[in-house]
Amino acid sequence: MLLELPKHAEIFGCVKIHEIQKVLKFESRPFESPLLKGISKDEMDDVLSRMVVIIPVKDEKLHLLDGVLRSVPIGCDIIVVSNSQRGENDIFRMERDIVSNFHRVTGHPITIIHQKDPGLGIAFKEAGYNAILDDAGFVRNGKAEGMVVGLTLAKNTGKEYVCFVDADNYIPCSVNEYIRLYAAGFIISQTPYSMVRLHWRYKPKVMEDRLYFKKWGRVSEITNRFLNLLISIHTGFETNIIKTGNAGEHAMTMKLAEIMAHSTGYSVEPYQLVYLLEEFWKGETEFREAMNSGIEIYQIETLNPHVHEDKGDEHIREMLLGSLSTIYYSKLANDTVRKEILEELKKNEMIKRERELKKNRVLPPIAKMNVEKFVEVLLNHSETLTMLSKED
Ligand code: GDD
Repeated sequence: MLLELPKHAEIFGCVKIHEIQKVLKFESRPFESPLLKGISKDEMDDVLSRMVVIIPVKDEKLHLLDGVLRSVPIGCDIIVVSNSQRGENDIFRMERDIVSNFHRVTGHPITIIHQKDPGLGIAFKEAGYNAILDDAGFVRNGKAEGMVVGLTLAKNTGKEYVCFVDADNYIPCSVNEYIRLYAAGFIISQTPYSMVRLHWRYKPKVMEDRLYFKKWGRVSEITNRFLNLLISIHTGFETNIIKTGNAGEHAMTMKLAEIMAHSTGYSVEPYQLVYLLEEFWKGETEFREAMNSGIEIYQIETLNPHVHEDKGDEHIREMLLGSLSTIYYSKLANDTVRKEILEELKKNEMIKRERELKKNRVLPPIAKMNVEKFVEVLLNHSETLTMLSKED
């Protein structure tokens, strides 16, 4: 892969945010200049073999999940965390069939579990991670909660990198690109605490009778603006460095993923940035090693457009409220930021009064969780965990 190296970065305490980088060519010979990096196949394969791909899924078209699985590069482990319907129309059972068939035919290592598995509830409780549980002792609903389940299982594999891809992707091979871009980011990164966030080149929409290749999603444009404002009010310099506030497609080194806190539902991605800035720029973190090593955030623009399931206006509303609430309630926000957020939400008729903007629940980093204990209890109590390794 031939990748532009970032020409500019902004530094906030020990957090370095790189500007957007473009992919110049999907394949390349090894090559390095101050502006470009050519990554060889061997270099790429090496990082991929140390990566776990987590796929959160909830009631998506099976066809789409199937396509996503087939597109994962060889070498990466896959963990599917499903919160799909059970009961008479058991979508989870169908997903599990797809996973088993995929493994039988390809031999690709893959794990699947249901988010509401009672064994998960017991295992998190025993491991002392109660924040993820509801009053009945089950893992709560939500994409972020599914991601944390995946992360905990990924930590147990001992792999170094973890990444997330959505299951509702209509262009399977774009998933292959996303995962390779994550690997490329880790190859150029200078610290064991790094994150790669993807910026889609285009997000096509059908407008009247033709495809229109939109650059920005509705929510992303607004979230990015407020994240940049949150930074600007502290530095005194206007910035637009953040272009990936809502990057559902992102990856982290396991070292960073372990010390990351997670805001629930769809606020998870903007909160990652807010958390890192709060903790490692304006806060006094307990994670000294990360502070000394520095944290790097790469933002890479994909070659493929992103075409996913359109879930309607209510979904967009939920995502925008979650994202802006994370910024509104940040320790970094001041009256100006809060006032502008409320105005934005009122303008879009999302809320009428301030008290309607709910604070998101935050799940603590999994760093202190006893993952060995978690896995031991899970293996004893799980009803849905299916782990298919190379030998099966
Ligand atoms: N395990 C699990 N549990 N997965 C879930 C849940 C849940 O409760 N809810 C949703 N998912 C899965 C979906 O099936 C999909 O694979 C992925 O999480 C993303 O959810 P979507 O509901 O499809 O979100 P989206 O596609 O509109 O938004 C995506 O892109 C945004 C940026 O544009 C998400 O990745 C957002 O988080 C992101 O901000």
